[in-house]
Amino acid sequence: MLIGTAVRPSQLSETAYASTLAREYNMVEPEDAMKWWVLRPDAATYDFRQGDDVVRFAQAHQMKVRGHCLVWGRYNPDWLTQGHFTSQQLAQLLHEHITRVMKHYEGQVFAWDVVNEALDENGNVRDSIWYNQPGVGFAGKGTAYIEQAFRWAHEADPKALLFYNEAEGEGTNRKSDAIYAMVKDFKRRGVPIDGVGLQLHVPNLDADVPAVAANIARLAALGVQVHITELDVSVPVGSDAPRTDDLTRQADVYRGIARACLNSPGCTAIQTWGFTDKYSWIGSHSRGARGQALPFDRAYQPKTAYRAVFEELAAGRPAGR
Ligand code: XIL
Repeated sequence: MLIGTAVRPSQLSETAYASTLAREYNMVEPEDAMKWWVLRPDAATYDFRQGDDVVRFAQAHQMKVRGHCLVWGRYNPDWLTQGHFTSQQLAQLLHEHITRVMKHYEGQVFAWDVVNEALDENGNVRDSIWYNQPGVGFAGKGTAYIEQAFRWAHEADPKALLFYNEAEGEGTNRKSDAIYAMVKDFKRRGVPIDGVGLQLHVPNLDADVPAVAANIARLAALGVQVHITELDVSVPVGSDAPRTDDLTRQADVYRGIARACLNSPGCTAIQTWGFTDKYSWIGSHSRGARGQALPFDRAYQPKTAYRAVFEELAAGRPAGR
């Protein structure tokens, strides 16, 4: 089982951060360092320095690196989104980006989120620069641009595992139905997809764990791997310390998700979106209303949530699976 976390290269020089990371995890994913806005300061430049820092740390500590993400409608640099490119130019830019980045990390990044968050809550393809504004040549053609990205990615690094990563499609709903239908279609037609990433940012302490388990099972039955990619379970914080029973509920959610993954042989990785409450996107994302979403506290002490996951991992997969 791969146990991973998102990491920030700027913190790797902090002793407690680096030692906890190296001791507890066997996989890392750059939280931002391999996104367009970091890698591509301008159209002509690739800046791999931050991504390389993550890879170097991982190699020094025998950890795998998950790459994130090659195609996303958000967090793109202004030169790209405001560049008034034609579809043909965008297709060329994206094809080149996928190829350059994957070749740079060939043999070092074992799996990539090729496409991130391309569907809306109704399961329709989201408007984006890559789809239809103006898109790379497949506007109005549903998942065809996603397919093209996977084909380019497979060409660039045939050994890398290729994932579709999504938010809020973890249980059973219209979005997860659409992911399932897309993966089924891709597998049937031989589009190179190896897995689905379920982000699992849990904002309200009540993940529908049985629905997540059912969704993992149906995806695995299509012959793809499932990775839990961005798990965090935030609690209300405000001006007071979090309530003890909220931290207990948080641990229950962590335990349930870990168990759901362990119970499905197709679920091969559990990754959290950071590991210490000292560094987490939740605070700014929720404007301070929620926080403390991760398994270690700000002083790098393991929380109840950590122990819950640890116990499930120790219990392991059910016999015979
Ligand atoms: C977030 C990072 O945590 C932040 O540092 C950044 O400012 C914005 O992106 N879904 C994803 C991640 O796939 O890439 C996002 O990460 C969180 C939501």
